[in-house]
Amino acid sequence: MTSAGARYEGRTGPELQVLLDLPRVVVYDEVPSTQDVTHALGEAGAPSGTLVVADAQSAGRGRGSNSWKSAAGAGIWLTMLERPHDSTAAGVLSLRLALRIAPVLERWTAAPIRIKWPNDLLVGDGKLAGVLTETRWRGPRLDWIAIGVGINVVAPDGMNAAALDGVTDRVVVLGELVPAVRAAAAARGVLSPAELEQYAGRDAVHGRRCREPMSGTAGGITPDGALIIHADDGEHAVRSGSLVLEEHS
Ligand code: BTN
Repeated sequence: MTSAGARYEGRTGPELQVLLDLPRVVVYDEVPSTQDVTHALGEAGAPSGTLVVADAQSAGRGRGSNSWKSAAGAGIWLTMLERPHDSTAAGVLSLRLALRIAPVLERWTAAPIRIKWPNDLLVGDGKLAGVLTETRWRGPRLDWIAIGVGINVVAPDGMNAAALDGVTDRVVVLGELVPAVRAAAAARGVLSPAELEQYAGRDAVHGRRCREPMSGTAGGITPDGALIIHADDGEHAVRSGSLVLEEHS
């Protein structure tokens, strides 16, 4: 695992740094996970806006204990390091990222992108992309967030997955994606009424039956990013866990 001499779509890290207007870009052919590299850079004092991209990951991570398939050239596997100060905004960052990233990626999808709480971007029922945010604290202060984004450019075998169409140079996608990620990270506070409206327009699960994180019917989300579930014993606002839908709901 070395970044020396590595190129991404033919560009070096310093070339991408200029092209994407970032303080630092680190490129790898293969790493276990761009998240881990980013945390090490964060510990070493890397500036906000540092981007780590890899052509392949050997141990890509998803939410919870999920792994993330990251074959060479088959997707965009990146982590952005940001040092925001608003811990309230950090709590809704996954949803805010999904809201900002979806319209960017729709340039390369035939159908609209929908969001499955809390962090999946879907085309039809297939997963196109996922977001993983990992925070590190120094005492009570937020020190950095590693914002991981995985986007399929080739759908992995054996999974209900979707992929972007017609991407010949992943750097073109990065050129639009990076400002969207940075804008999401810079936003403050809970989700605004406009963001909640955007979410409602992309909500993939509203009205569908679910069995995890509890049995019921999915509603919308609250400004602080909780999923509303209508259960037999009333309405619940769920802030953690993953959503598992009933088949054919
Ligand atoms: C999910 O849907 O569960 C989140 C998937 C996040 C995958 C990306 S790929 C780049 C970064 N490095 C990782 O190990 N994971 C994230």
